[in-house]
Amino acid sequence: MKKFYLETFGCQMNVHDSEKVIGTLVNSGYEQTESVDEAGLVLYNTCSIRDKAEQRVFNRLAHYKKQAAAGKIFGVLGCVAQQEGERIFERVPHVSLVCGSASYTKLGELLQQLESGNRRVTGLSLDTEDTFDTPLTRRDNPHRAYITVIEGCDKACSYCVVPFTRGPERSRTSASVMEEARRLADGGYTEIQLLGQNVNSYRDPSAAGWDFATLLDAVGNVGGVRRVRFTTSHPRDFLKPIVDAISANPRLCNHVHLPVQSGSSKVLAAMQRHYDRDQYMERIEWIKSSPRSIAITTDIITGFPGETDQDFEQTLDLLDEVQYHSLFCFKYSPRPNTSALALPDQLTDDEKGRRLTTLIERQRAIQLEVNGRFVGDTQEVMVEAYSDSNSLWFGRTGDNKTLNFSGPTRESNPLVGTYQPVLVTRASPNALIGEWAPRA
Ligand code: 5AD
Ligand code: SF4
Repeated sequence: MKKFYLETFGCQMNVHDSEKVIGTLVNSGYEQTESVDEAGLVLYNTCSIRDKAEQRVFNRLAHYKKQAAAGKIFGVLGCVAQQEGERIFERVPHVSLVCGSASYTKLGELLQQLESGNRRVTGLSLDTEDTFDTPLTRRDNPHRAYITVIEGCDKACSYCVVPFTRGPERSRTSASVMEEARRLADGGYTEIQLLGQNVNSYRDPSAAGWDFATLLDAVGNVGGVRRVRFTTSHPRDFLKPIVDAISANPRLCNHVHLPVQSGSSKVLAAMQRHYDRDQYMERIEWIKSSPRSIAITTDIITGFPGETDQDFEQTLDLLDEVQYHSLFCFKYSPRPNTSALALPDQLTDDEKGRRLTTLIERQRAIQLEVNGRFVGDTQEVMVEAYSDSNSLWFGRTGDNKTLNFSGPTRESNPLVGTYQPVLVTRASPNALIGEWAPRA
């Protein structure tokens, strides 16, 4: 069982948790393989934010049922593990390990129990004070690194399963975050992404008592760091000093992801978001008044219980008003334990889908216009890859736009991981197109 396979579903927090889990496993003598067939231990780091994500892991497990009979060990990690707990053993008897993210500090112990022949082991406690910050992290990308600054969520948005799957908020000390940032910069990482389910409510538990804006600025001042991003924000905790920090420090990326969820104050109240449309727009004004041009992106849920046509119209109107640079939108998905389950006036799947399509179409037109404004500009991109299929390089601008550009051939100039000036020549709703424009 010393070879393991790990597949990750869901958000960046999960992606980064998996990097830490891999580090822990490798340190315990396991070797990673990309093939389920070769692995003795098969792990899924799961997501339960919407029902579809949850079903994917059960489909995977059903598919490999036969292999379990041949002695392979299966484990479920992450949000579905926490949400379903020991019920997973009943539903999928060939699973042997169920462990939620708040218990990853115990993963080494659980693996030992499995090795000594235990058929069923669990890590499901949520009342941990610990954060899972491990120097063993195996980072996937040599240029961009994630740092968790806060785990869990203390909000209680009525649709959201996260407080049940990731537990209460636990912030790391600023000293430990800074130490990790310096170590990463020394190791050649130039882009750092600060992560938290609600990153803005970061509060240094040590005597230093830093808030999020202070931490953000300090990470931006670490020598060698060129770009700092953060995700994800909650409007209620997104305060003016964060915008001031971005305005003053060019190493903090000019992008804010500020999930609004709905443009209707009535729906926001039912979602228990603790802000209304005006308060949200106040934050948008702070961002737009910055001397830097800061891109704003968002998340929206369509068809929340009780959302009328008029409420939905208000969301469309908000898109016109804010002019988001991009958005993620989802049909409302009822989740276990959440209070929205009990709300009247649940909408049909068809209606949620219709609204989703309308929203996407409206945003597409906005993005074409927003992106069009960049044509003629020279943008700095961090180059991520070269695509043989279209012979274009691919990179990301500071405000997180995808920029595909022509340049030197792959062999002659390994640009990946470097920062390059690119002249934007064309725009589509989802990307910019350009030409490499090295300074003479
Ligand atoms: N149904 C649909 N979308 C959801 N999200 C969170 N919970 C649900 C749900 N039950 C969306 C929110 C959040 C994003 C990460 O996922 O828009 O910001
Ligand atoms: Fe979920 Fe709300 Fe917490 Fe975000 S802030 S993780 S949407 S409960």
